[in-house]
Amino acid sequence: MAAIRRIGVLTGGGDCPGLNAVIRAVTKSAIYEHGLEVVGINEGFGGLIMGSWKLLTDADVSGILPLGGTILGANNRDNPFMFPKKGAGGEVGTEDKSKEAIANLERAGVEALIVVGGDGTLTISRRLHELGVPLVGIPKTIDNDIHGTDVSFGYDSALQTATEAVDKLHTTAASHHRGMVLEVMGRNCGWIALGAGIAGGGDIILIPEIPFTFDNILKRIELRRERGKRFSIIVVAEGARLPDGLKVSRETGTGEMVLGGIGEAVAKGIDKLADMETRVTVLGHLQRGGSPSPFDRILATGFGTEAVEMVLAGRFGMMAALKAPHIEPVPLQDCVPGQRRVPTDGELLDYARSVGTSFGDR
Ligand code: F6P
Repeated sequence: MAAIRRIGVLTGGGDCPGLNAVIRAVTKSAIYEHGLEVVGINEGFGGLIMGSWKLLTDADVSGILPLGGTILGANNRDNPFMFPKKGAGGEVGTEDKSKEAIANLERAGVEALIVVGGDGTLTISRRLHELGVPLVGIPKTIDNDIHGTDVSFGYDSALQTATEAVDKLHTTAASHHRGMVLEVMGRNCGWIALGAGIAGGGDIILIPEIPFTFDNILKRIELRRERGKRFSIIVVAEGARLPDGLKVSRETGTGEMVLGGIGEAVAKGIDKLADMETRVTVLGHLQRGGSPSPFDRILATGFGTEAVEMVLAGRFGMMAALKAPHIEPVPLQDCVPGQRRVPTDGELLDYARSVGTSFGDR
Protein backbone atom coordinates (compact mmCIF):
# COMPACT_ATOMS: atom_id res chain seq x y z
CA MET A 1 0.00 0.00 0.00
CA ALA A 2 1.30 3.47 -0.89
CA ALA A 3 2.11 5.74 2.06
CA ILE A 4 -0.80 7.89 3.15
CA ARG A 5 -0.19 11.64 2.83
CA ARG A 6 -3.64 13.17 3.23
CA ILE A 7 -6.46 12.12 5.56
CA GLY A 8 -9.98 13.44 5.96
CA VAL A 9 -12.03 14.04 9.09
CA LEU A 10 -15.83 14.16 9.07
CA THR A 11 -18.20 14.71 12.00
CA GLY A 12 -21.61 13.13 11.36
CA GLY A 13 -24.96 13.36 13.11
CA GLY A 14 -25.83 15.84 15.84
CA ASP A 15 -23.25 17.88 17.70
CA CYS A 16 -21.78 16.75 20.98
CA PRO A 17 -19.28 18.18 23.50
CA GLY A 18 -15.78 17.03 22.55
CA LEU A 19 -16.11 17.07 18.75
CA ASN A 20 -13.70 19.97 18.42
CA ALA A 21 -11.26 18.25 20.77
CA VAL A 22 -11.26 15.27 18.37
CA ILE A 23 -10.79 17.48 15.29
CA ARG A 24 -7.90 19.24 17.03
CA ALA A 25 -6.27 15.96 18.10
CA VAL A 26 -6.56 14.44 14.62
CA THR A 27 -5.22 17.57 12.95
CA LYS A 28 -2.34 18.32 15.33
CA SER A 29 -1.11 14.74 15.58
CA ALA A 30 -1.45 14.18 11.83
CA ILE A 31 0.47 17.36 10.96
CA TYR A 32 3.14 17.43 13.65
CA GLU A 33 3.60 13.78 14.58
CA HIS A 34 3.22 12.25 11.13
CA GLY A 35 3.69 15.01 8.54
CA LEU A 36 0.25 14.45 6.97
CA GLU A 37 -2.30 16.84 5.53
CA VAL A 38 -5.81 16.94 6.95
CA VAL A 39 -8.99 17.77 5.07
CA GLY A 40 -12.01 18.72 7.17
CA ILE A 41 -15.31 17.77 5.49
CA ASN A 42 -17.99 20.38 6.22
CA GLU A 43 -21.42 19.44 7.59
CA GLY A 44 -21.09 15.67 7.66
CA PHE A 45 -21.89 13.41 4.73
CA GLY A 46 -24.01 16.17 3.18
CA GLY A 47 -20.86 18.28 2.76
CA LEU A 48 -18.99 15.36 1.24
CA ILE A 49 -21.70 14.84 -1.35
CA MET A 50 -22.01 18.56 -2.10
CA GLY A 51 -18.21 18.89 -2.42
CA SER A 52 -17.64 21.09 0.63
CA TRP A 53 -14.33 20.68 2.45
CA LYS A 54 -11.18 22.56 3.42
CA LEU A 55 -7.58 21.86 4.30
CA LEU A 56 -7.18 22.21 8.07
CA THR A 57 -4.16 24.02 9.48
CA ASP A 58 -2.84 24.38 12.99
CA ALA A 59 -4.42 27.84 13.08
CA ASP A 60 -7.86 26.34 12.30
CA VAL A 61 -7.72 24.09 15.34
CA SER A 62 -5.91 26.36 17.79
CA GLY A 63 -8.00 27.23 20.83
CA ILE A 64 -10.89 24.89 20.01
CA LEU A 65 -10.19 22.24 22.67
CA PRO A 66 -12.70 23.67 25.18
CA LEU A 67 -15.26 24.74 22.55
CA GLY A 68 -18.64 22.99 22.30
CA GLY A 69 -20.19 22.17 18.91
CA THR A 70 -18.06 21.40 15.86
CA ILE A 71 -16.08 23.83 13.71
CA LEU A 72 -16.95 21.61 10.73
CA GLY A 73 -20.70 22.04 11.21
CA ALA A 74 -23.23 19.32 12.03
CA ASN A 75 -25.92 17.68 9.99
CA ASN A 76 -27.93 14.72 11.20
CA ARG A 77 -30.05 14.15 8.11
CA ASP A 78 -27.77 13.33 5.20
CA ASN A 79 -27.16 9.65 4.57
CA PRO A 80 -25.29 9.00 1.28
CA PHE A 81 -27.26 5.76 0.81
CA MET A 82 -30.59 7.57 1.24
CA PHE A 83 -29.87 11.14 0.22
CA PRO A 84 -32.93 13.42 0.20
CA LYS A 85 -34.29 14.01 -3.29
CA LYS A 86 -37.21 16.12 -4.40
CA GLY A 87 -39.45 14.49 -7.00
CA ALA A 88 -40.95 16.30 -10.01
CA GLY A 89 -44.11 17.04 -8.04
CA GLY A 90 -42.14 18.40 -5.06
CA GLU A 91 -42.52 15.17 -3.06
CA VAL A 92 -39.45 14.22 -1.01
CA GLY A 93 -37.85 10.87 -1.71
CA THR A 94 -34.31 9.52 -1.42
CA GLU A 95 -31.55 8.36 -3.77
CA ASP A 96 -28.25 6.50 -3.37
CA LYS A 97 -25.39 9.02 -3.55
CA SER A 98 -22.70 6.75 -2.10
CA LYS A 99 -20.79 6.66 -5.41
CA GLU A 100 -20.63 10.48 -5.47
CA ALA A 101 -19.46 10.50 -1.86
CA ILE A 102 -16.65 8.07 -2.65
CA ALA A 103 -15.69 9.94 -5.84
CA ASN A 104 -15.54 13.20 -3.88
CA LEU A 105 -13.14 11.70 -1.38
CA GLU A 106 -10.84 11.05 -4.31
CA ARG A 107 -11.39 14.57 -5.64
CA ALA A 108 -10.37 15.93 -2.24
CA GLY A 109 -7.27 13.75 -2.32
CA VAL A 110 -8.37 11.99 0.85
CA GLU A 111 -6.59 8.64 1.10
CA ALA A 112 -8.19 7.61 4.40
CA LEU A 113 -11.13 9.01 6.32
CA ILE A 114 -11.73 9.38 10.06
CA VAL A 115 -15.46 9.52 10.79
CA VAL A 116 -16.69 10.77 14.15
CA GLY A 117 -20.27 9.80 14.88
CA GLY A 118 -22.95 7.85 16.67
CA ASP A 119 -24.85 4.72 15.71
CA GLY A 120 -26.30 6.16 12.48
CA THR A 121 -23.07 7.74 11.20
CA LEU A 122 -20.94 4.73 12.10
CA THR A 123 -23.42 2.38 10.40
CA ILE A 124 -23.07 4.46 7.22
CA SER A 125 -19.28 4.32 7.70
CA ARG A 126 -19.39 0.56 8.00
CA ARG A 127 -21.22 0.34 4.67
CA LEU A 128 -18.80 2.78 3.00
CA HIS A 129 -15.88 0.67 4.23
CA GLU A 130 -17.56 -2.42 2.80
CA LEU A 131 -17.56 -0.53 -0.52
CA GLY A 132 -13.81 -0.06 -0.22
CA VAL A 133 -13.37 3.26 1.60
CA PRO A 134 -10.34 3.12 3.95
CA LEU A 135 -11.95 4.47 7.06
CA VAL A 136 -11.68 4.53 10.87
CA GLY A 137 -14.54 5.42 13.26
CA ILE A 138 -14.65 7.31 16.55
CA PRO A 139 -17.66 6.87 18.90
CA LYS A 140 -19.47 10.12 19.65
CA THR A 141 -22.74 10.56 21.51
CA ILE A 142 -24.11 11.94 24.74
CA ASP A 143 -26.45 8.90 24.77
CA ASN A 144 -23.54 6.49 25.47
CA ASP A 145 -25.31 3.80 23.46
CA ILE A 146 -22.53 2.56 21.14
CA HIS A 147 -21.46 -1.06 21.47
CA GLY A 148 -17.79 -1.99 21.70
CA THR A 149 -16.49 0.91 23.79
CA ASP A 150 -16.68 1.41 27.56
CA VAL A 151 -18.01 4.90 26.91
CA SER A 152 -18.44 7.37 24.04
CA PHE A 153 -17.14 10.92 24.35
CA GLY A 154 -19.84 13.46 25.12
CA TYR A 155 -21.57 11.33 27.72
CA ASP A 156 -19.57 12.64 30.65
CA SER A 157 -20.26 16.27 29.71
CA ALA A 158 -24.00 15.61 29.35
CA LEU A 159 -23.95 13.81 32.67
CA GLN A 160 -22.32 16.79 34.31
CA THR A 161 -25.09 19.09 33.05
CA ALA A 162 -27.84 16.65 34.06
CA THR A 163 -26.33 16.03 37.50
CA GLU A 164 -26.04 19.74 38.16
CA ALA A 165 -29.73 20.05 37.28
CA VAL A 166 -30.66 17.30 39.78
CA ASP A 167 -28.61 19.09 42.46
CA LYS A 168 -30.33 22.39 41.77
CA LEU A 169 -33.79 20.83 41.71
CA HIS A 170 -33.12 19.26 45.11
CA THR A 171 -32.88 22.56 46.96
CA THR A 172 -36.02 24.04 45.47
CA ALA A 173 -37.98 20.74 45.78
CA ALA A 174 -37.04 20.43 49.45
CA SER A 175 -38.02 24.03 50.19
CA HIS A 176 -41.46 23.69 48.61
CA HIS A 177 -42.13 20.01 49.43
CA ARG A 178 -42.72 19.34 45.77
CA GLY A 179 -42.26 16.61 43.26
CA MET A 180 -39.68 17.60 40.65
CA VAL A 181 -39.55 15.73 37.38
CA LEU A 182 -36.38 16.15 35.30
CA GLU A 183 -36.63 14.90 31.71
CA VAL A 184 -33.26 14.10 30.17
CA MET A 185 -32.11 12.94 26.72
CA GLY A 186 -30.67 9.56 25.77
CA ARG A 187 -32.91 8.40 22.93
CA ASN A 188 -33.81 4.74 23.53
CA CYS A 189 -31.30 4.20 26.34
CA GLY A 190 -31.34 5.28 29.96
CA TRP A 191 -27.64 6.01 30.52
CA ILE A 192 -28.01 9.75 31.14
CA ALA A 193 -31.03 9.32 33.44
CA LEU A 194 -29.33 6.52 35.34
CA GLY A 195 -26.00 8.33 35.65
CA ALA A 196 -27.46 11.67 36.68
CA GLY A 197 -30.01 9.94 38.93
CA ILE A 198 -27.29 8.11 40.84
CA ALA A 199 -24.83 11.02 40.87
CA GLY A 200 -27.48 13.49 41.98
CA GLY A 201 -29.33 11.18 44.38
CA GLY A 202 -32.60 11.08 42.45
CA ASP A 203 -35.39 9.26 44.31
CA ILE A 204 -37.05 7.69 41.29
CA ILE A 205 -35.32 6.98 37.96
CA LEU A 206 -37.40 5.98 34.95
CA ILE A 207 -35.53 4.49 31.99
CA PRO A 208 -36.57 2.82 28.71
CA GLU A 209 -35.04 -0.49 29.80
CA ILE A 210 -37.35 -0.88 32.85
CA PRO A 211 -41.16 -0.68 32.59
CA PHE A 212 -42.70 1.35 35.41
CA THR A 213 -46.16 1.84 36.92
CA PHE A 214 -47.62 4.89 38.63
CA ASP A 215 -48.62 2.69 41.60
CA ASN A 216 -44.97 1.85 42.19
CA ILE A 217 -44.00 5.51 41.93
CA LEU A 218 -46.73 6.37 44.42
CA LYS A 219 -45.53 3.65 46.81
CA ARG A 220 -42.04 5.17 46.82
CA ILE A 221 -43.36 8.68 47.39
CA GLU A 222 -45.47 7.37 50.32
CA LEU A 223 -42.48 5.54 51.77
CA ARG A 224 -40.44 8.72 51.59
CA ARG A 225 -43.23 10.61 53.34
CA GLU A 226 -43.25 8.01 56.14
CA ARG A 227 -39.52 8.68 56.47
CA GLY A 228 -40.15 12.39 56.78
CA LYS A 229 -39.17 13.31 53.22
CA ARG A 230 -41.82 15.58 51.79
CA PHE A 231 -40.30 16.02 48.35
CA SER A 232 -39.25 13.64 45.59
CA ILE A 233 -36.94 13.99 42.61
CA ILE A 234 -37.89 11.94 39.57
CA VAL A 235 -35.38 11.66 36.71
CA VAL A 236 -37.01 10.38 33.53
CA ALA A 237 -35.32 9.43 30.27
CA GLU A 238 -37.01 10.87 27.18
CA GLY A 239 -37.29 7.35 25.72
CA ALA A 240 -38.96 5.71 28.74
CA ARG A 241 -42.33 4.13 28.00
CA LEU A 242 -45.50 5.11 29.84
CA PRO A 243 -47.26 2.20 31.59
CA ASP A 244 -49.43 1.68 28.50
CA GLY A 245 -46.20 0.93 26.60
CA LEU A 246 -46.18 4.14 24.58
CA LYS A 247 -43.30 6.53 24.11
CA VAL A 248 -43.95 10.26 24.05
CA SER A 249 -42.83 11.96 20.84
CA ARG A 250 -43.96 14.57 18.38
CA GLU A 251 -43.65 15.18 14.69
CA THR A 252 -41.56 18.20 13.68
CA GLY A 253 -42.36 20.51 10.78
CA THR A 254 -40.10 18.41 8.55
CA GLY A 255 -42.01 15.22 9.39
CA GLU A 256 -39.34 13.84 11.73
CA MET A 257 -40.45 12.10 14.96
CA VAL A 258 -38.55 13.43 17.98
CA LEU A 259 -38.77 12.10 21.52
CA GLY A 260 -39.87 14.46 24.28
CA GLY A 261 -42.73 15.22 26.61
CA ILE A 262 -42.73 12.23 28.92
CA GLY A 263 -41.79 14.48 31.85
CA GLU A 264 -45.13 16.26 31.59
CA ALA A 265 -47.02 12.94 31.41
CA VAL A 266 -45.20 11.59 34.46
CA ALA A 267 -45.87 14.78 36.43
CA LYS A 268 -49.58 14.61 35.59
CA GLY A 269 -49.73 11.05 36.89
CA ILE A 270 -47.97 11.97 40.12
CA ASP A 271 -50.03 15.13 40.67
CA LYS A 272 -53.22 13.12 40.45
CA LEU A 273 -52.25 10.06 42.47
CA ALA A 274 -49.85 11.36 45.08
CA ASP A 275 -51.51 14.66 45.84
CA MET A 276 -48.12 16.28 45.50
CA GLU A 277 -47.57 19.53 43.68
CA THR A 278 -45.22 18.58 40.86
CA ARG A 279 -43.13 20.60 38.41
CA VAL A 280 -41.31 19.59 35.27
CA THR A 281 -37.91 20.60 33.87
CA VAL A 282 -36.94 19.49 30.38
CA LEU A 283 -33.17 19.75 30.04
CA GLY A 284 -33.14 19.28 26.26
CA HIS A 285 -30.21 20.52 24.20
CA LEU A 286 -28.47 22.08 27.20
CA GLN A 287 -27.07 18.56 27.51
CA ARG A 288 -25.47 18.78 24.09
CA GLY A 289 -24.17 22.34 24.19
CA GLY A 290 -21.25 23.95 25.95
CA SER A 291 -17.74 23.05 26.86
CA PRO A 292 -16.70 19.38 27.15
CA SER A 293 -15.74 18.08 30.60
CA PRO A 294 -12.04 17.39 31.32
CA PHE A 295 -12.77 13.64 31.00
CA ASP A 296 -14.29 14.13 27.54
CA ARG A 297 -11.42 16.38 26.43
CA ILE A 298 -8.93 13.69 27.42
CA LEU A 299 -10.99 10.89 25.84
CA ALA A 300 -11.51 12.89 22.63
CA THR A 301 -7.78 13.64 22.45
CA GLY A 302 -7.02 9.94 22.91
CA PHE A 303 -9.60 8.88 20.30
CA GLY A 304 -8.32 11.44 17.77
CA THR A 305 -4.63 10.60 18.09
CA GLU A 306 -5.25 6.83 18.19
CA ALA A 307 -7.49 7.05 15.11
CA VAL A 308 -4.61 8.64 13.18
CA GLU A 309 -2.33 5.81 14.36
CA MET A 310 -4.96 3.28 13.22
CA VAL A 311 -5.07 4.91 9.77
CA LEU A 312 -1.29 4.71 9.44
CA ALA A 313 -1.33 1.08 10.59
CA GLY A 314 -4.01 0.29 7.97
CA ARG A 315 -6.57 -0.73 10.63
CA PHE A 316 -9.56 0.19 8.44
CA GLY A 317 -13.16 -0.76 9.12
CA MET A 318 -12.36 -0.39 12.81
CA MET A 319 -13.50 1.99 15.57
CA ALA A 320 -11.23 3.47 18.23
CA ALA A 321 -12.79 2.16 21.46
CA LEU A 322 -12.07 2.76 25.12
CA LYS A 323 -11.25 -0.50 26.86
CA ALA A 324 -10.03 1.18 30.02
CA PRO A 325 -7.27 2.09 30.49
CA HIS A 326 -6.43 1.62 26.81
CA ILE A 327 -7.91 2.80 23.51
CA GLU A 328 -8.04 -0.13 21.09
CA PRO A 329 -9.31 -0.84 17.56
CA VAL A 330 -12.60 -2.78 17.48
CA PRO A 331 -14.25 -3.94 14.20
CA LEU A 332 -17.10 -1.61 13.23
CA GLN A 333 -19.22 -4.67 12.56
CA ASP A 334 -19.08 -5.46 16.31
CA CYS A 335 -20.22 -1.94 17.20
CA VAL A 336 -23.01 -0.96 14.76
CA PRO A 337 -25.85 -1.00 14.01
CA GLY A 338 -27.68 -1.33 17.30
CA GLN A 339 -27.85 0.43 20.61
CA ARG A 340 -26.12 -0.59 23.82
CA ARG A 341 -28.83 -0.44 26.43
CA VAL A 342 -28.54 -0.24 30.22
CA PRO A 343 -28.18 -3.83 31.51
CA THR A 344 -31.04 -4.47 33.91
CA ASP A 345 -28.93 -6.88 35.94
CA GLY A 346 -25.89 -4.58 36.18
CA GLU A 347 -24.17 -3.24 39.29
CA LEU A 348 -25.25 0.35 38.64
CA LEU A 349 -28.87 -0.58 39.25
CA ASP A 350 -27.90 -2.49 42.40
CA TYR A 351 -26.02 0.51 43.77
CA ALA A 352 -29.01 2.74 43.12
CA ARG A 353 -31.54 0.35 44.66
CA SER A 354 -29.27 -0.12 47.69
CA VAL A 355 -29.49 3.57 48.53
CA GLY A 356 -33.27 3.59 48.18
CA THR A 357 -33.72 4.68 44.57
CA SER A 358 -36.78 3.26 42.82
CA PHE A 359 -37.05 2.43 39.13
CA GLY A 360 -40.84 2.37 39.35
CA ASP A 361 -40.88 -1.36 38.75
CA ARG A 362 -41.58 -2.63 42.29
O1 F6P B 1 -28.44 11.37 20.04
C1 F6P B 1 -28.28 12.56 20.74
C2 F6P B 1 -29.61 13.22 20.99
O2 F6P B 1 -29.37 14.42 21.70
C3 F6P B 1 -30.64 12.35 21.71
O3 F6P B 1 -30.39 12.24 23.09
C4 F6P B 1 -31.91 13.06 21.35
O4 F6P B 1 -33.02 12.20 21.36
C5 F6P B 1 -31.64 13.53 19.95
O5 F6P B 1 -30.24 13.56 19.78
C6 F6P B 1 -32.20 14.89 19.64
O6 F6P B 1 -31.95 15.17 18.31
P1 F6P B 1 -32.25 16.58 17.63
O7 F6P B 1 -31.15 17.50 18.01
O8 F6P B 1 -32.27 16.27 16.19
O9 F6P B 1 -33.56 17.03 18.17
